[in-house]
Amino acid sequence: MKSTKTVWAPKMLAIVLAAMLILPGCGGKSGDSADIVVIGAGGAGMTAAIEAQSLGAKVILLEKMPMVGGNTVRAEGGLNAAGTEYQKAQGIEDSPELHFEDTMKGGKNLNNPDLVKVLTENAKDSVEFLKENGAELSEVGKAGGASVPRIHRPEGGEAAGNFIVVALKKKLEELQIDVRLQHEVTEILTDKDGKVSGVKGTDKDGKTFSIDAKAVILTTGGFGANLDMVVKYKPELQGFTTTNAPGAQGSGIGLAQALGAKLVDMEQIQIHPTTIPGEGVLITEGVRGDGAILVNQEGARFTNELLTRDVVSQNILAQKDGIAYLIFNDELRQNLGATETYFEMGLVEEGQTVAELASKIGVDAAALEQSVKRYADMKNKGADEDFQRDDMRLDFTKGNYYAIKVTPGIHHTMGGVAINTQTEVLNESGAVIPNLYAAGEVTGGVHGANRLGGNALADIVTFGRIAAQEAVKALN
Ligand code: FUM
Repeated sequence: MKSTKTVWAPKMLAIVLAAMLILPGCGGKSGDSADIVVIGAGGAGMTAAIEAQSLGAKVILLEKMPMVGGNTVRAEGGLNAAGTEYQKAQGIEDSPELHFEDTMKGGKNLNNPDLVKVLTENAKDSVEFLKENGAELSEVGKAGGASVPRIHRPEGGEAAGNFIVVALKKKLEELQIDVRLQHEVTEILTDKDGKVSGVKGTDKDGKTFSIDAKAVILTTGGFGANLDMVVKYKPELQGFTTTNAPGAQGSGIGLAQALGAKLVDMEQIQIHPTTIPGEGVLITEGVRGDGAILVNQEGARFTNELLTRDVVSQNILAQKDGIAYLIFNDELRQNLGATETYFEMGLVEEGQTVAELASKIGVDAAALEQSVKRYADMKNKGADEDFQRDDMRLDFTKGNYYAIKVTPGIHHTMGGVAINTQTEVLNESGAVIPNLYAAGEVTGGVHGANRLGGNALADIVTFGRIAAQEAVKALN
């Protein structure tokens, strides 16, 4: 009699082999090869992998965490792009030149203008790319430091990052891209001529793997969750919480440095004005963009809420205990779907009247009523005489009224590896490290001293696509 083992072995083998071809994390452990290895499956990496595989390359996408999405999944605001069909439909006049000017001004002109030019000229195509890949960003809002409404987000004001990650994940599956989770790269390999030739690393079981590749794209994100590294480059951030996903450890920066990559702007680390004290949960800038005001513990407004993040953060830190309250009402809640999460998380205090809200948050009721009334009067007259806010959306005539207690937290690391406009990684002498590309928060130079809200998603999709296009071009 034949043993069951003998009968079933070939079938089982076929099933296992099929699973290895189509299931994430099931690839071979060593001796693999690909045209392009992408390291890091956040928004930049997913974009680069999709673009490269669509252009005909065989791609392996490696991710050290157990899931894709990186920091992108936490991005709430949206994507800045100028001249889109959605802006035109709303009669918003914008141009890549104005986007460029705003970005350079927001970054205090420390930005690499060549990279900013590429960003602002191509961001519109990134909106198109996302639409083609199932993530249409059809609503346009206003973010700090933008001269006109330019930040694109999903209809209904849903958080943009998760929306994009869900769509791109689906696309990775559709294209059957070889995604390997819990695969941490420990070294980028080079050949005898110093050209990048693959990667080496360890998987979740601690087994080593190596993959030969004609090009490597580094999309590992920033170091905003590595508090030692943050404090090393900016000691005054000791004690701040972070909005970053735990994977944002700066590991890709170390990988590139081992090949002699140049680092730029490492000390430029952004704090976001509105995070939950002690927790680092991000409250999107969209709340201010859509009309919320900020008051201090005395119930007084103290800033133009739509200034750039660095300025609003400093203005909050100058208040008692470095604390402020975002104040808004049902009108905003209904327009900005992203706020529902804050309600679900129990982060919002509410009152049917401003006075009731004040008593809930321990602020003097008369002072808060006075601030809200003055703001409403100024909105109705059309000018913020106190702080020159140029976009006042709420008149606060109707409740319910809401408050979220906020303080600044570590948000974005603007520094990283130096790249040129083709996303090639540069060494200390400014020469290209052959076959190594990088995109997204692992790179430095795009955002200068302060990133504008909405420019991170623009960055990862725009440069993620360019990295893929350049890497594919170099294959031929
Ligand atoms: O405030 C936010 O929603 C964050 C957006 C961003 O960092 O671009």
